[in-house]
Amino acid sequence: MADLDQVKKEKDFFTNIPMETPGFFLRGAGSFDWGMKNRLARIFSPSSGRTVMLAIDHGYFQGPTSGLERIDLTIVPLVPQADALMLTRGILRSTIPPSANKAIVIRASGGPSILKELSNEEIAVDIEDAIRMNVSAMAVQVYVGSEFETKTIRNMTKLVDAGLRYGMPVLAVTAVGKEMVRDAKYFRLACRICAELGAQFVKTYYVAEDFDTVTASCPVPIVMAGGKKLPELDALTMAYKAVQEGAAGVDMGRNIFQSDAPSAMMTAVTKVVHENMEPKHALELYKELKNKKR
Ligand code: R5P
Repeated sequence: MADLDQVKKEKDFFTNIPMETPGFFLRGAGSFDWGMKNRLARIFSPSSGRTVMLAIDHGYFQGPTSGLERIDLTIVPLVPQADALMLTRGILRSTIPPSANKAIVIRASGGPSILKELSNEEIAVDIEDAIRMNVSAMAVQVYVGSEFETKTIRNMTKLVDAGLRYGMPVLAVTAVGKEMVRDAKYFRLACRICAELGAQFVKTYYVAEDFDTVTASCPVPIVMAGGKKLPELDALTMAYKAVQEGAAGVDMGRNIFQSDAPSAMMTAVTKVVHENMEPKHALELYKELKNKKR
């Protein structure tokens, strides 16, 4: 029976303090539901507003690429350092410990291998399975200007519709076809189309000229894709410039796991992204940590 006698009397109503209704820290996300915001807040740090995602999903079209031959040995030790992991459900279930407690961005499109036309993708994960895996977002490739442009945009909008039903954000990845010029004009077009059609955040490449116009004209957060392996200073400089020019973080793969010292590189990138550390200092830190490991 419930205790009805000697119940402590309520008194702490703080009637002189109005309840605050804070906004949400991420660009364009103010009108989303609680679950969607909560998932986004697992990916993006509420204190810096940025994220360091580790992309290891390359195998979905490339097979066991350099640095990802043995994810259990080379990547699992890096997991604690990332804010979020971007990967396929096959690697998640087979190789990543469920105790990792990291935000997961699941690769949700696929189909063609590197031997075929890459833009000919289909949706590759059901929303129910994404929820079963407790992921924080679904990632889909969008090939603006490529042969199967409309199909990939349709893949994205189907995932956005499913995601809105369950509070699951969608990350649109702007994939550049061979014939496309990688410049600000192209990325403004691609990123804006993804945001207009409902993606909650967008991944795109950094361009040296006018990247700030790409971030300014996209009403949702942009995370910078790493691209091919560069010397460490160049990769850190690219990440630095991207966040200074409006990106809400990075989603890097090869520039981390193909580095001579992936853990040191993760630390250096994290300092650049979350603490605005300048590239030359981040490089010094990288070298110091790399030498310590030896
Ligand atoms: C490619 O389309 C995948 O989304 C990759 O995960 C991503 O672009 C790779 O990261 P990175 O280019 O930094 O190796």
